Amino acid sequence: MRYYHAEHESAYRRIGELGYTQWNDLFDQSGAWTYDYFQNRAFLEWVLPRLDLPPADATRVLEYGCGTGPAACFMAGRGFQVEAIDLIPEAITLARRMAEERGVRVAFRVADICALASDQVSGRYEIVLDSYCLQSIVTDEDRGAVFAAVQARLKPGGYYVISTALRTPGRNNEPGFYYDASTGIYYREVPAGTVADHVVEIDGRWHIPHRRHISADALRDELVAAGFQVMSLEGSETGDVVCCLGTP
Ligand SMILES: C[S@@+](CC[C@H](N)C(=O)[O-])C[C@H]1O[C@@H](n2cnc3c(N)ncnc32)[C@H](O)[C@@H]1O
Repeated sequence: MRYYHAEHESAYRRIGELGYTQWNDLFDQSGAWTYDYFQNRAFLEWVLPRLDLPPADATRVLEYGCGTGPAACFMAGRGFQVEAIDLIPEAITLARRMAEERGVRVAFRVADICALASDQVSGRYEIVLDSYCLQSIVTDEDRGAVFAAVQARLKPGGYYVISTALRTPGRNNEPGFYYDASTGIYYREVPAGTVADHVVEIDGRWHIPHRRHISADALRDELVAAGFQVMSLEGSETGDVVCCLGTP
C-alpha cells in the first residue's frame, strides 16, 4: 500500500462516522472553516479575476486531492467546468452528495494523482488546482510524478494553482513524529510490521513518510526545477502559489 493511503482512508472513515463534511472538520471545530467557506476560498476569490482565462463556462478545471469537494463545488458554482479526483472513494461519495445538495455539476472520480503521470492524457485544462494535497505527497519521486501529471494536462497558457502547508518553525518534534529538517519530511511512527512502501527505521522505531513541509523558497525552487514558472507565491505557514508552464 502507498504510504499516503491508510491515513487518508481512516480520516474519511472518521469524517463519515462523525457526520463531518470536510477534511478540516477533523482538526478545527472552531467553525472558522465551513464547507462553503473553506480554507483557500479567499485566495481563490482573489486570484481568479487576475488570471487570463476564457469565459468560465469555457474554462476547464481539474482539482486533484479534492477531498469532499469544497473547492471543486465553489469553482463549479462560479460556472467553471470542473473535474475533481481524490484517492479515497469515501471522499468522492461525500463530494458527490455535497455537489448535488448545492446544485452544482462536478465530474468527481477516484484516482491517484501520482499514478496519472503514466496514464494517457484524456483532457487538458486551463486550471489545475491543488487545495492542500501536495503536502501529503512526500517523496521526490512522487512529487515529480505529480508535477509531470500536471504539466501533461495543462493547456498552454494554463495555470497551476496550489494552496499548501509550508514549513512552520517550531513544529519539529510532535509525539509520534520525526521531522527531518534537511528534507522537510515528517515521518509518522507506525507499529512494527506495518506493510507500506517507504517504511524506514528511525531511532529503532518504524516510520512512514507523512508530510513534506518545506519553506516557501524551497517550494519555489522545486517548482522551477520541475519546469514551472512561478508567477506568485505568498504565505508563511501555508502558501498560495500560481504557476504556469515554463518556457521549454
Ligand atoms: C488535506 S486533504 C484536503 C482535501 C480537500 N482538498 C480540502 O481542502 O478539504 C488532502 C487530500 O488529498 C487526498 N490525496 C492524498 N494523496 C493523494 C493522491 N496521491 N491522489 C489523489 N488524492 C490524494 C487525500 O485523500 C485528501 O482528500
